[in-house]
Amino acid sequence: LWTPSNIIDDAVTAVREQVGGDHVLLGLSGGVDSSVVGALLHRAIGEQLTCVFVDNGLLRLGESDQVMATFARHMGVRVIRVDAEARFLERLKGVKDPEAKRKLIGNTFIEVFDAEAGKLQGVKWLAQGTIYPDVIESAGAKTGKAKVIKSHHNVGGLPEQMNLGLVEPLRELFKDEVRKLGLELGLPAEMVQRHPFPGPGLGVRILGEVQKDYADTLRRADHIFIEELRAAGLYDRVSQAFAVFLPVRSVGVVGDNRQYAHVIALRAVETVDFMTARWANLSYDFLDHVSRRIANEVEGVSRVVYDITGKPPGTIEWE
Ligand code: XMP
Repeated sequence: LWTPSNIIDDAVTAVREQVGGDHVLLGLSGGVDSSVVGALLHRAIGEQLTCVFVDNGLLRLGESDQVMATFARHMGVRVIRVDAEARFLERLKGVKDPEAKRKLIGNTFIEVFDAEAGKLQGVKWLAQGTIYPDVIESAGAKTGKAKVIKSHHNVGGLPEQMNLGLVEPLRELFKDEVRKLGLELGLPAEMVQRHPFPGPGLGVRILGEVQKDYADTLRRADHIFIEELRAAGLYDRVSQAFAVFLPVRSVGVVGDNRQYAHVIALRAVETVDFMTARWANLSYDFLDHVSRRIANEVEGVSRVVYDITGKPPGTIEWE
């Protein structure tokens, strides 16, 4: 019988059998899959689990603290937070091409994670949030971005290099099942029902070169958009929504002064499979409210636009 608690019981038993008394390492990203694996392994093996959470400086507003609050403080999971913002931003200096940024962010992540893992004694297993669609995707030879996408979710050659075995307790589950497990394991609904967030994070939502002040501006604008979507009961009705930072400048007025500042684009889409998508038909009143809040509250933004491009011809992300 498929009930979340049965699946959890089975997974707990299976993991205990697989790893015995060994120590397991997990990279927490703040995303749904790795979060659910974290909660599941904590239930199965408690103190034998160590999580590494890399803050790359490209996360959403308050995300890093939320991950620590949920796992470390609330659940008592051992989580090592690595503040790698400076390192990522330093590496990203002068890099403008989207794929180059993706590679760089992915490689830097592996480096940082690897270095952290190397400090831990006696780890024998690496846990990953691989879910059934990932298994299918890597079995069939998909092209282009899909491959790249996955390279950010797992930690590349790490298991072989470090001689670690793989623990993948969600391998047979679909996303909606993973979410149900997460709720049953006591993760906050807000975390479990969250829209997808790309591995390279805000790195591909700041067009062109990434800069810290751009990231700070974008985080604040994005937060307002998401907060308003939630308040209006729209968050769960769109598949993905976010703000994008456009490094062009546009003239505006603040009080009596002319302001020459940056542009924020809002994107919200409806989709089943993320392969095609429609832009979400949000009401003018709603968009008006969000636009006013962003322009008034976020310094350095003079203009807000809404993206009305479907996929195709657009992609969901801007880069
Ligand atoms: P696109 O922009 O290709 O996005 O229409 C489809 C879905 O994939 C996500 N996406 C990524 N996820 N690493 C990821 O982990 C990436 O490099 C990446 N690029 C796009 C995107 O957020 C959307 O959900």
